[in-house]
Amino acid sequence: MNEWGDGTRCVHAGLPEPAPGQPFLPGPVFAAPYHLDPWQGPAGGPNGYGRPDNPTRRLLEDAVGELEGGDCRVFASGQAAITGLLLTLLRPGDTVVLPSDGYYAVRAFAAGTLEAMGVRVVLVPTVGPYPDLAGVRLVLVETPANPGLDVVDVAALAERARAAGALLAVDNTTATPLGQRPLDLGADVVVASGTKALTGHSDLLLGYVASRSTELIEAVTGWRKTTGAIPGAFDAWLAHRSLATMDLRLGRQSANAEAVAALLAGRADVTGLRWPGRPEDPAYAVASAQMRRVPGVLSFDLGDADRVARFIDAARLVVAATSFGGLHTTADRRAQWGDDTAPGFVRLSCGVEDTADLVADMAAALDAAGGPA
Ligand SMILES: Cc1ncc(COP(=O)(O)O)c(C=O)c1O
Repeated sequence: MNEWGDGTRCVHAGLPEPAPGQPFLPGPVFAAPYHLDPWQGPAGGPNGYGRPDNPTRRLLEDAVGELEGGDCRVFASGQAAITGLLLTLLRPGDTVVLPSDGYYAVRAFAAGTLEAMGVRVVLVPTVGPYPDLAGVRLVLVETPANPGLDVVDVAALAERARAAGALLAVDNTTATPLGQRPLDLGADVVVASGTKALTGHSDLLLGYVASRSTELIEAVTGWRKTTGAIPGAFDAWLAHRSLATMDLRLGRQSANAEAVAALLAGRADVTGLRWPGRPEDPAYAVASAQMRRVPGVLSFDLGDADRVARFIDAARLVVAATSFGGLHTTADRRAQWGDDTAPGFVRLSCGVEDTADLVADMAAALDAAGGPA
């Protein structure tokens, strides 16, 4: 599988061997209980009850696991995966390092639940500096970080974590497994939201944990079985179907981001442009060394909230929505969700529209929006 290109790997990931008369991707199996063998009970087959066992989910896990290069367990959402990993690993008295500039719901969970449990939470910006990791149980990084798009050198941090006896988890949501393979770079575990570019159609929520450690995967599987944070069979099937086009979607999204970055860089009325694929970007050197491709997400500042609204209103191809990585170009003013960002800070997620159409539409919308107040 690894010798093939990204498109081939995505199209074939997790599919059963071809069998005459059978579909390429078997349809979703909807089952709560399954028939049991009357003598052997659950030991008589792979499926006993829907919370731990579902064949549709297992095929999706094979697919994502192949792409990440580890064993995978999928969850009902990215948050379910991340909080599941944190609660599987952390005990009172442990220390966890989390990104200060990453997805805000993880910080909220740490402040609301982990600290109340007696876990010491240390917040560190994605670019560091990272503290001495002695005595730290787990370091979680997001690279590129959402929404600021800073990048951290995963291999270097993995080495430091290993030397200190800490585990390193990488949130691979923004990059996707086609953008980088954190397990190859030395991370112990990957967590991600599959809601974004992995599945890319803005129609489902999904999360996953992937690792090469059997012990860790067993612990996470036990956590999921007892807490029930599973995706339904239909969402798992939709996700698997969508995964097949990830290479094509990411290719267009990245090309669009490159063209949009060039447009924005040339405008004096846009500041703070970030896209790790631009040679002028502070994250460029590390991103180009460790990433195989840069995702279609950029950020920039339009000065104030009104101007952001005027820009989105004037655009025909940019819609206001949170989340990112989907087929449609979306813009999100992050301060409205409580991110510690300037009032005019926008995270823009390029969709798969034609590049020339998107660039022309955005240029016209910026002109129509006028300058900041
Ligand atoms: C980097 C990152 N991790 C995790 C999540 C949580 O994922 P979900 O919304 O699928 O729970 C998000 C959501 O935006 C995210 O951006």
